[in-house]
Amino acid sequence: LRVGVLFGGKSGEHEVSVMSGRSMIQSLDPCKYEAIPIGISKEGKFVLGEAAQTALQRGLVESLPSHTVHPGLGEEMGEAWSHLSPNVTPAHHVKYTTENHDTPKVDVIIPVLHGSYGEDGTMQGMLEMLGIPYVGSGVLASALCMDKIAMKQLFSAHGFPQVKYMSVLRSEWENDSQVVERRIEETLGYPCFVKPANLGSSVGISKVTERNRLHEAMQLAARYDRRLIIEQGLQVREIEIAVLGNDNPQTSVPGEVIPAGEFYDYNAKYISGESELLIPAPMSDAQRQEVQEIAIAAYRAADCAGLARIDFFIEKNTGKVYLNEINTMPGFTQYSMYPKLWEATGMGYAELVDRLIQLALE
Ligand code: ADP
Ligand code: DAL
Ligand code: MG
Repeated sequence: LRVGVLFGGKSGEHEVSVMSGRSMIQSLDPCKYEAIPIGISKEGKFVLGEAAQTALQRGLVESLPSHTVHPGLGEEMGEAWSHLSPNVTPAHHVKYTTENHDTPKVDVIIPVLHGSYGEDGTMQGMLEMLGIPYVGSGVLASALCMDKIAMKQLFSAHGFPQVKYMSVLRSEWENDSQVVERRIEETLGYPCFVKPANLGSSVGISKVTERNRLHEAMQLAARYDRRLIIEQGLQVREIEIAVLGNDNPQTSVPGEVIPAGEFYDYNAKYISGESELLIPAPMSDAQRQEVQEIAIAAYRAADCAGLARIDFFIEKNTGKVYLNEINTMPGFTQYSMYPKLWEATGMGYAELVDRLIQLALE
């Protein structure tokens, strides 16, 4: 089976995706699968063959100079089509591809892309158009779970417990920041968390504990997205659980993250190396059951497929469980929570990837 692994991408989580892609490719059993690495640069150019291998080693996908000369959308799509689509003639002839005209077509794609243009339904839409089976959620679930505002509205509709939040458009913020600040203080107070609605890996997120920090937090989030979300900040334990399956999803044991630092920011996730994962998370049977039930219900509510990591908060003072978010393409390095949770539940990394490919082909 020829398995295309898409990694990198245009989002702020490019580097994380390259690491996830590298682990995934290394785990594919060469007796069963032919792994075809497909990098996407930060500019959105597809990189194949040796250049993709180099990108995996370097941890960064760079656009080939020849690709940046004629970056017309039609050509980009045509090129992607000609390389990826099984048994289909390219819509038009692409002349400028520098290498691998004979790159084999793929039977299935694993889009190990995090964040915008990868985890948000856009790539899933392109793969639907191309008619290529792919691992993970479809367009709807991907888009819903990427946008923290839409996701929380869905959670509210289902009555899932979640922290208090409000949403603001960048244009509202830019028009009258004082009015917006007052609304935030009246609705939520401090501490609060300011986030771009569409991102991940804590990029652009700030914890704000006092008024004179609010402005810079809003400015930062507004650099990343035109939709912003502000949440009440609680003192929490962070519990994560892995879900696997299509119409009959299963949950792993829950795990706990002990972030190094004030909260689980980008540094605590990927740089400091001092955050700890506790697997399984120490919690009561009742709490574990509640988390597992909400995880399955939320997975179904968003119409997820293949996999998702569902993240919860448990308030330290009260023990109350809050649903935080669904990640439809969670971090997937050997050390990431998602595969570690399945390992603790009895399924190793390679077997997990096998299962995901089967689910994509169901
Ligand atoms: P991302 O999608 O980037 O992971 P999250 O919404 O999960 O964004 O927020 C990142 C981190 O910020 C969380 O893991 C947690 O440490 C902290 N955090 C976010 N929202 C809250 C909140 N309302 N209360 C307490 N901590 C929060
Ligand atoms: N968005 C990152 C990759 C995660 O949730 O694991
Ligand atoms: Mg998170």
